[in-house]
Amino acid sequence: MPSSKAPTPPPRLFSGMQPTADSLHLGNYLGALAQWVILQDSHQAIYCVVDQHAITVEQDPDVLRRRVRVTAAQFLAAGVDPARSILFVQSHAPEHAQAAWVLQCLTGFGEASRMTQFKDKSQREGAERASVGLFTYPILQAADILLYDAAVVPVGEDQRQHLELTRDLAQRFNARYGQTFVVPEPHIVKATAKILDLQRPDKQMSKSLGGSGCLFLLDDVKASAKKIKSAVTDLGREVVFDPDGKPGVSNLLTILSALSGTSIETLEKRFEGAGYGDLKKEVAAAYTEFAGGFAERTHQWLSDGSTLDDVLADGAVRARAISGERLADVYRKVGFA
Ligand code: TYM
Repeated sequence: MPSSKAPTPPPRLFSGMQPTADSLHLGNYLGALAQWVILQDSHQAIYCVVDQHAITVEQDPDVLRRRVRVTAAQFLAAGVDPARSILFVQSHAPEHAQAAWVLQCLTGFGEASRMTQFKDKSQREGAERASVGLFTYPILQAADILLYDAAVVPVGEDQRQHLELTRDLAQRFNARYGQTFVVPEPHIVKATAKILDLQRPDKQMSKSLGGSGCLFLLDDVKASAKKIKSAVTDLGREVVFDPDGKPGVSNLLTILSALSGTSIETLEKRFEGAGYGDLKKEVAAAYTEFAGGFAERTHQWLSDGSTLDDVLADGAVRARAISGERLADVYRKVGFA
C-alpha cells in the first residue's frame, strides 16, 4: 500500500567561502569544495560567497566585486549545481547581518576573545588595525549557518572552533527563547581537512604564507607544477605516509590520493623503490590535469556573465525565502514589536 506520509526532505547543509583572492587554492578545494559537490546528492545544499566576512580586513571595492564573481564561478566549475543547490552572495541577503546582531548580544566578550583565528589574524594586522568586524566575524558565521536550519556544515579543520561557537549559540538561544535553531554538526573529512603549505609543511596551505607553497587553482599550471616540484620534502628517501615524521611527503601523498581517487596504501606500494622526485612528478601531472579543466570551466562561467548573474540572483531569492522566515521567528522570540 502506498504510504500517505510525505517523504522527509533531505537534511539542510550550509557552507561558505571568502572572496579574498583572485583564485581559490587547493586547500579550499580539497578541504571543502570537493565535499560540497558530493554532499549535494544527499542534502539540500546552500552555498554562499561570504563577501561580508571579506571586509573584516580592508578590500579594494572593485577588486572585491570581481572576486565575488570569480569565487562563485569556481563553485560552479567544481560542480555545484544551481538547479539542485542554492548559490548566493551573502550581502544579497541582509538577514545574515540582522541575525548576527541578535547573536552578538548572546555572545560573551571572553568567549569571542578565545577564537584562535581572530588571535592569529589580529596579531598579523596589529591590535590597533584589527577591526571590530574581525572580532565578531565568527558570530556572523554562526548567523549564516543557523538561519538555514543547517544540520551539516562541510569545512576544513581550521573552522572547527567556529562551528563549536555556532553550536553553543544555537543551544543558548534555544534554552532562552524556546526551540528555534537546529544545532549543526561540522562535516570535516579527516584525510583532506588540512592540506599543508608546500614550502612550510608545518602550516596549513594558505595564501597568507606568501604564495610560494600555495597552489592557486586559476594560476598558470606550469608555474604550479614548478611549485610542486620544489616542494619541501623530508629526510630519508622512502615514499611512505607518516604525517609526523614526513609531513611534506605525506601531504603530497594526500594530494595525489585525493586528486586521483587512489588510496594512500596503493600509492605507497606503487612508489616502493621510487624516490621523492617520482612522487612529485606524478602529483604535478595529476594537478595539471585537474587544474587545467577547472580553470577552463571557471572562465566559461565568467565569460557568460549574464548566466552567472542570473544564478546568483535566483540563489538570493531562494536563500531569503528561508532566512527571512527564520529571522522573523527570531525577532518575534526576542521581543521585537
Ligand atoms: P575560508 O574562506 O578561509 O576557507 C574556505 C574553506 O576552505 C577550507 N580550507 C582548507 N581546508 C583544508 N586545507 C586547507 N589548507 C584549507 N584552507 C582553507 C576552510 O576550512 C573552509 O571550509 N569562516 C569561513 C567562511 C564562512 C563559513 C560560513 C564557512 C563564513 N560563513 C558558514 C562555513 C559556514 C572561512 O573563512 O573560510
